[in-house]
Amino acid sequence: MDLPPSAAPLHALPAWRLPPAVLAAVRDRPAGAAEISAYLYDPTVAARNAAALRGCLPGWAELCYAVKANGFPPVLDALLRGAPVAWPDGDVQVRGPDPSVVGSGRGGVDGFEVSSAREAHLALAAYGRVAPTRPPYLIASGPAKSTTLLTALVESGVSIVNVESPGELRRLEAVATRVGRRVTVAVRVNPARVALAGSLQMGGRPSAFGVPESEVPAVLELASRLPHLDVAGFHVHAVSGNLDAAAHLDYVRWCLDFADRAAADAGIDLQVVDVGGGFGVPFEPDRRGERPFDLDRFGEGLARLPIPPDVRVIFEPGRLLVADCGWYAAEVIDVKRSYGTDFVVLRGGIHHFALPTSWEIVHNFAVVAGPAPITTDAEAVDTDGRPVTVVGELCTPEDTLARDITVGPVRPGDVVVFPLAGAYGYEFALADFLGHPRADRVVLGESADRGPRYA
Ligand SMILES: Cc1ncc(COP(=O)(O)O)c(C=O)c1O
Repeated sequence: MDLPPSAAPLHALPAWRLPPAVLAAVRDRPAGAAEISAYLYDPTVAARNAAALRGCLPGWAELCYAVKANGFPPVLDALLRGAPVAWPDGDVQVRGPDPSVVGSGRGGVDGFEVSSAREAHLALAAYGRVAPTRPPYLIASGPAKSTTLLTALVESGVSIVNVESPGELRRLEAVATRVGRRVTVAVRVNPARVALAGSLQMGGRPSAFGVPESEVPAVLELASRLPHLDVAGFHVHAVSGNLDAAAHLDYVRWCLDFADRAAADAGIDLQVVDVGGGFGVPFEPDRRGERPFDLDRFGEGLARLPIPPDVRVIFEPGRLLVADCGWYAAEVIDVKRSYGTDFVVLRGGIHHFALPTSWEIVHNFAVVAGPAPITTDAEAVDTDGRPVTVVGELCTPEDTLARDITVGPVRPGDVVVFPLAGAYGYEFALADFLGHPRADRVVLGESADRGPRYA
């Protein structure tokens, strides 16, 4: 199959659907500036998402943002700082722009989920800037945690290591012994069955992630013999991109039940159930009728769950918090017709923005008109009312961002803008193929020319 899939008969988004700040960043470029190829971020959107999610979660829930979704420092800072929110349960620690709440963790996230030494460094740096007096709260996940990585994590004071295998338990024990610290662990479980219909499943099937459910007792028995490790509970992250709140509630219920049973059987004092991330965002509202994840419904269901008083339930969302805080903007370099298909060729591509191909989604875009192009009218390809294929600058036909999306006139110098590019955008792309410059990262409201570039 050609990826991304054909979008026909979808029309491109009108440019007016883009926020004014995005339009301004794309249009108000200084004359003579290099062609635009940039991620534009509004970190305040991420902070508002964290506040909205937190506003729906019961008081016992903890929120640890998955840094892999977007590790841009201003985004991490905004998530840690949080946004003011009025709590339905009457908790009024954050009601209005009160500077004393910075770092309290109530409006923003409680901590970060990290999968590499670099992510741990990014998270710790955010604490240093935004909440220097607050003890960092880092949870480490991911397969193939090497001795080097585990050493870096333990030395950085990681709060919980989500352990993926017996081998990792033994490596971690060796590291903890050498560093001279006790380490709190949660055993990552790959459930035998996952009923969630997300677009990417990491559980309920053979996978490198976690310990198969039936092998958990043996792994707990091993852990109980490793003197530097304290098993505090379990971790399950078995799905991504789920939009069904009722199904997600069932999933959390399953995680809690499983944790309760497994801990009781092994005689463990259950303190932590990390239920992972996996909340989706509607990438294809027009084509597939997708609707946003119903946070209110989810929160109401969670509030009815009986949680033992000393158990911390951790949510590790990535995508939900940051997807809509980013836009990928790439300038049109060429418009060509080839054997009847119109191609819009960008200064950019899958080395910056791999989401549409890797997720096999139709990722719609808007076209923002640029200055008059230098091509003559005779050479110009008239795309008006025609479906186009949007491709990048790499020397491979795989470098395709959209197929068969009907557009208006598109000319060189226009800018194609993909909303919902804040999660798994910049971080997810394989940046070095062909050696073109990486995409810039720009905070909206800061001048792309003079503001910090965070390369
Ligand atoms: C262990 C873990 N936690 C959380 C997340 C975040 O998932 P999502 O962005 O779907 O919420 C991921 C993503 O892959 C993950 O691997």
